[in-house]
Amino acid sequence: MSESTLILIKPGGVQRNLIGTVLSRFEQRGLRIVALKRLLADRATVEAHYDEHRERAFFQDVCDYLCTGPIVAAVITGDNAVKAVRAMMGATNPIEATPGTIRGDFGLTIDDNLTHSSSDPEAALREIALWFPEGVAER
Ligand code: CDP
Ligand code: MG
Repeated sequence: MSESTLILIKPGGVQRNLIGTVLSRFEQRGLRIVALKRLLADRATVEAHYDEHRERAFFQDVCDYLCTGPIVAAVITGDNAVKAVRAMMGATNPIEATPGTIRGDFGLTIDDNLTHSSSDPEAALREIALWFPEGVAER
């Protein structure tokens, strides 16, 4: 079933010129990029994005990091997009991520793990609305 997920390329990935490399992996997989922007995130949006982690020790650090430079936000659509993109991203800590995944190929440390993607379809709906309040074109 076709569904959508939200991905972010974090500041380290943008800084390292990996926007095209990361996005092309999704396209090569057969997924579609249906919305895309590069932006400097504002703190309130990032805190809302990571709201589920508000009580965790890393919350401030990860929010600080997301605001250190430009990021890319995209909506990726296709069959089982949420699960497919999570699998392509790899484990949260790149040192545990399988080679062949984005984090396993381009990351080394958890604080610079390159990408975010929605954990489940409900989170995807919430995150798409947060990062694309202007809406996403149907076609
Ligand atoms: O990004 P993912 O869904 O794989 O992991 P998460 O558990 O939802 O954590 C969100 C983000 O917080 C991670 O991608 C890391 O950037 C950061 N994090 C961290 O810095 N240290 C941790 N122990 C866990 C997460
Ligand atoms: Mg998560």
